[in-house]
Amino acid sequence: MSTKNNTMQNVWLVTGGAGFIGSNFVRMARAHQWASIINLDKLTYAGNLANLENLQQDKGHVFVHGDIGDRALVQRILHDHRPQAIIHFAAESHVDRSIKDPRDFFDTNVIGTFNLLGEARGYWNSLKDENKKVFRFLNVSTDEVYGSLGVDEAPFHERTPYAPNSPYAASKAASDHFIRAYQHTYGFPTLLTHCSNNYGPYQFPEKLIPVVILNALAGKTLPIYGDGLNVRDWLYVDDHCRALYLVLTKGRVGETYNIGGGYEVPNLKLVQEICAVLDQIKTDRRGLYSRLIQYVKDRPGHDRRYAINHAKIATELGWKPQESFETGIRKTIDWYLENKNWVEIIQNNSYKEWIHSHYENNRSAL
Ligand code: NAD
Ligand code: DAU
Repeated sequence: MSTKNNTMQNVWLVTGGAGFIGSNFVRMARAHQWASIINLDKLTYAGNLANLENLQQDKGHVFVHGDIGDRALVQRILHDHRPQAIIHFAAESHVDRSIKDPRDFFDTNVIGTFNLLGEARGYWNSLKDENKKVFRFLNVSTDEVYGSLGVDEAPFHERTPYAPNSPYAASKAASDHFIRAYQHTYGFPTLLTHCSNNYGPYQFPEKLIPVVILNALAGKTLPIYGDGLNVRDWLYVDDHCRALYLVLTKGRVGETYNIGGGYEVPNLKLVQEICAVLDQIKTDRRGLYSRLIQYVKDRPGHDRRYAINHAKIATELGWKPQESFETGIRKTIDWYLENKNWVEIIQNNSYKEWIHSHYENNRSAL
């Protein structure tokens, strides 16, 4: 892909596009030819080029191995590729890791986002007026910035006050505040989304749903934190990606949109449901998978309940989830069963070798 001239191109810069949601978004964007994609990813433990395997020959996808906090690199990408939009997924995303060591969360989610935003603003300032009107910066945030809901409290809406509880949530909240401030102060054209828990293909096996599927299939215990009554609101990843596309192309500048699956369930029940589906499609001769459930020590500061009111995006942009939990979890389990090699290269840590053996052509395009 050659985009080196002064006009803005039908190109989007996606950050974190080798991770779970980012790679699902990039594959969807390319399948629908929404735009050409520059994919900037640091390839932390969560980034995996195997997630982008089917785009290796796609000239409309350029992978750049680098850090969102590297201002010189970001400036060069923006200058060379002239994107119309930045969709910012890159983050440290796992709550348990943020509790063990919050430093990377501060470095990437706060400082990294700040640096990216600074370069994006400089680029936007340099655009002609007609291009300035088109450009968008979409920050992919989380419902965790709102804190924890009581059992009877109404779901989070766009005006719910921020109350982040984990270091992860605090770092995401900090980056959201910069997004808001750049819009308010400089008129920088931002969009902000808060989504609930995603699940689906390519999710790194540290998050609850892939942990449960893969442990069950391996006959290992299924760890339930605390009493198992913490509630999450689950959304199939493709539905999140479709929502982001709508927000990016039709959302009102400066606005925030909440995205959720409307499928609120306590962790224990969720795990039992996954076990029941597994019992149907991959019967274990040793007994029902639910026999493997084991209560373990709770997560410190564990938020009790998340739930999203997604009326705004539904009314304004016509979005609603296409997958029910029943259909989404079935697709997800099928995917993990059919992609044993993907699981294996993560479990034996060889997925990092992909950095050297793949994408040589695309990487040199920058
Ligand atoms: P993930 O951990 O699977 O992927 C994160 C990606 O970002 C990885 O590819 C990683 O290599 C990359 N990355 C990390 N630090 C980087 C840096 N400094 N520079 C460049 N790349 C870097 O995360 P995910 O679950 O796909 O989440 C993506 C985004 O969506 C995050 O911002 C997260 O906060 C948000 N989000 C996630 C969920 C969810 O349920 N997973 C829900 C709502 C919002
Ligand atoms: O709500 C959106 C957030 O969802 C995103 O912003 C985060 O990036 C994403 O990681 C996710 O956060 P959670 O902490 O909710 O997801 P996780 O899969 O880690 O845990 C889901 C619930 O399951 C939570 O209540 C903790 C519990 N849990 C988790 C694991 C890994 C267990 O009981 N056992 C486990 O082994």
